[in-house]
Amino acid sequence: MRRMVAETRLHPADLILPAFVREGVSEPVPISAMPGVVQHTRDTLRKAAAEAVEAGVSGIMLFGVPEDAKKDALGTAGTDPDGILQAAIRDVRAEVGDDLVIMSDLCLDEYTDHGHCGVLDAEGRVDNDATLERYAEMAQVQADAGVHVVGPSGMMDGQVGVVRDALDTIGKEDVAILAYTAKYASAFYGPFREAVGSSLKGDRKTYQQDAANLRESMRELALDLEEGADMVMVKPAGPYLDVLAKVADAVDVPVAAYQISGEYAMIEAAAEKGWIERDKAILESLTGIRRAGAQMILTYWATEVAQRLGRQG
Ligand code: PBG
Repeated sequence: MRRMVAETRLHPADLILPAFVREGVSEPVPISAMPGVVQHTRDTLRKAAAEAVEAGVSGIMLFGVPEDAKKDALGTAGTDPDGILQAAIRDVRAEVGDDLVIMSDLCLDEYTDHGHCGVLDAEGRVDNDATLERYAEMAQVQADAGVHVVGPSGMMDGQVGVVRDALDTIGKEDVAILAYTAKYASAFYGPFREAVGSSLKGDRKTYQQDAANLRESMRELALDLEEGADMVMVKPAGPYLDVLAKVADAVDVPVAAYQISGEYAMIEAAAEKGWIERDKAILESLTGIRRAGAQMILTYWATEVAQRLGRQG
């Protein structure tokens, strides 16, 4: 009867798999703070994408990890048509076609030698408007590579509008934008920094939001929608369920939430110590995010959970 009257259900199609692909490796590289998650080779990424399709997952969010030597102040590897992310988009598109919604992280932090999400001014501060020009170019190379959805995640002001214009200019009106609308400067990103080999020293508090603020997210939301966001996202998910609920109530576009690296790591670590029941905790965390209002959830457990849901019928 509990099953019959459940108000919230998880379905494989609700899930989006974030995946890392690293340049120049011949074997997948484990990420120690995210047991079970790897930096893929181009080859193993294709396999992971095919496996996700098989399990019924609806999307994949790709992150590129360039060779260290290719990082520079402007993050040029991020706009190189042959850069690792662009190559990965082509690979995955060739592997799965339109069976998976292919999404890409549109941000410079994986490619800059200082690790910030943008380019810096003479005083070493992130230069919002100069960064927007880089994002415009990045959106175009990702679209040319065949991505279905771009995910601007750098929290620069005006990024959604600039990306929309850049895409339209080259005839890519059908590439959609998943806006990282409410993205908080979170301590829970820790393991991700290892996942992408980040060179960041310091923090992102000048462009990501403060954990104390809710109203600010509503302002970010209004701006993103006005600028042309097709879908909006709240990130992290677990510690920000109130933000998610409020955003979901306020809009009529699809709402996503990103269960981030630290949320993943906490459950895996506690489970490894035998302190919580892993599988139940994972499902409960995802059900909570769904209940709060997320239609789609980015989670590193996407394929595993989709397989499990599939087996339950
Ligand atoms: C920025 C980006 C980050 C994450 C996704 N996109 C890191 C950050 O803002 O510092 C974090 C994802 C996670 O922690 O799982 N490119």
